[in-house]
Amino acid sequence: MRVDVVSIFPEYFAPLGLSLLGKARAESRLELAVHDLRTWTHDVHRTVDDTPYGGGAGMVMRPEPWGEALDALADGRTRLVVPAPTGRLFTQDLAHELAAEEHLLFACGRYEGIDQRVLDHAAGRMPVTEVSLGDYVLFGGEVAVLVMLEAITRLLPGVLGNSASLDEESHANGLLEAPMYTKPAVWRELEVPEILRSGDHGKIARWRRDQALLRTAARRPDLVAALDPATLDKKDRAT
Ligand code: ADE
Repeated sequence: MRVDVVSIFPEYFAPLGLSLLGKARAESRLELAVHDLRTWTHDVHRTVDDTPYGGGAGMVMRPEPWGEALDALADGRTRLVVPAPTGRLFTQDLAHELAAEEHLLFACGRYEGIDQRVLDHAAGRMPVTEVSLGDYVLFGGEVAVLVMLEAITRLLPGVLGNSASLDEESHANGLLEAPMYTKPAVWRELEVPEILRSGDHGKIARWRRDQALLRTAARRPDLVAALDPATLDKKDRAT
């Protein structure tokens, strides 16, 4: 997958060379380039923002540098992703959707956002998705792109050593994951649940499923309400 990121703070993306994300880049599973929006300015001050039409607090990003950046970086395979608190909520489903794209172009807005005409114009040439991490406001899109890229990259083929972990983790099946334990079996007088040490794989799977259901019901009733009843078995219903 190819990813381009445009921002006025390219330094924000230094961590993308670390850990499994850095490894995915080194192995060319992810081809990532970060660009400074000011590359596409032409005045001595390298201006990217101005006051909003209609008044109000803050500054808005001017359309010209963004237009040139998108002209330079987008092609027929590009999906433009714009992080914004007004966007579609970022979920594991959306991460899967984005992981299936050939080319993602992330446009990081700052201040009060990017002039709306940039998105409207781009939408005539490519799919455009505004994406929100949640119901809160960040200074800009950079941190949101770091989050999205991490969630997307781990879904790319070959990035996780054991892809079975993708099937079992939280949100894979609409549920939160059951609690996990490792050695020692007793720590500060707290014991690992006996069943996990029993070696009975059927019982362990059932216990984990029950724990996932109970945890999700307690912490995220919205996820339980959204479950497809066809994915529940008789024992689930009893839980
Ligand atoms: N930019 C500012 N706030 C944001 C949010 N909640 N999600 C994504 N991008 C943002």
